Amino acid sequence: MSNTATERKPAHTSQGTRGKTVRADKPAAKKRSPKWRAEKKGAKKGAKKRRPVLTAKTADRHELYQLAVQSPDEDVKFLARVYKKVRKKSPKHFREDFCGTAVLSASWVKRGKAYSAEGFDICGDTIAWGLAHNFEPLGVKAGCATLHVKDVREQSHKKPDVRAAQNFSYMVFKTREEMRDYIQSAYDDLAQDGVFVMDLYGGPESMEEMEEVRKIDEGFTYVWDQAVYWPATGDYKAHIHFRFKDGTEIKRAFSYEWRLWTLPELLDIMREVGFEHIDQYWEGTDEDGESGNGVYRMSRRGENCLAWVTYLVGYK
Ligand SMILES: C[S@@+](CC[C@H](N)C(=O)[O-])C[C@H]1O[C@@H](n2cnc3c(N)ncnc32)[C@H](O)[C@@H]1O
Repeated sequence: MSNTATERKPAHTSQGTRGKTVRADKPAAKKRSPKWRAEKKGAKKGAKKRRPVLTAKTADRHELYQLAVQSPDEDVKFLARVYKKVRKKSPKHFREDFCGTAVLSASWVKRGKAYSAEGFDICGDTIAWGLAHNFEPLGVKAGCATLHVKDVREQSHKKPDVRAAQNFSYMVFKTREEMRDYIQSAYDDLAQDGVFVMDLYGGPESMEEMEEVRKIDEGFTYVWDQAVYWPATGDYKAHIHFRFKDGTEIKRAFSYEWRLWTLPELLDIMREVGFEHIDQYWEGTDEDGESGNGVYRMSRRGENCLAWVTYLVGYK
């Protein structure tokens, strides 16, 4: 991951230099940004905080990332809901894979002393940022969280009720063997009545080399840059750039080298390692008949839209 402040290039055109489409924030059909900030139903739009003007020099890329693509309180509600639907009780212990700044774990333990969490990430610096910014501000009423600087295939201290891999980070595993090992280790490490939740990005637009540009309320622009996709292998390179009102940019604030896995491929592996049940949650359509409405319901068939984000929920 790199963090370079550069001058912003001249205004976007509809075709980039590599023939990439640059799409503004106007959906032509229902689609989701691959890195999205959920506006899940019930999400509260807080009063706007007064913030200093952001520029490439003053902004913190982890903070921008959290603002642009994460909505931890809504995600935690969703995860607790899917567990409750299956197990008819509330989940207590949570495990966040590829936790990064572990903002989901912070949101989980914020609910009280009865709730605990473990996060796993190989990047010690990112975890340290999360401890300082997401956990230190939590009061004494919060539950206990442990963040491990470890590979996600390592065992938990305590078997989780809910284990989540969000924002497609597992796509870092490029071979079937690696992916199978990861999903097998998640299966083996779950509490007997635990659930494992992975989100997934797909649809024809997910395979296009294109940029998605989205203005963020807090005063900056988020760019999801699908830079490279090789249909022969599924190899996928993507970057996040942040642009600011003064014309500066943090280019390649985050970069990803993934394999773009398809939903049936992941389902096959989940079944193979032992998940007896796999529910899929698909997003409903808004009143405009086009965009997603942030409400996720179980579906066996899905919806053939240009780009979608869907959840797979596996349990024994
Ligand atoms: C896209 S970030 C995820 C941030 C955040 N959890 C989210 O949901 O948006 C991916 C993270 O995965 C971590 N990572 C990559 N490979 C890993 C592995 N094998 N085990 C643990 N963490 C890994 C990286 O260090 C990085 O922090």
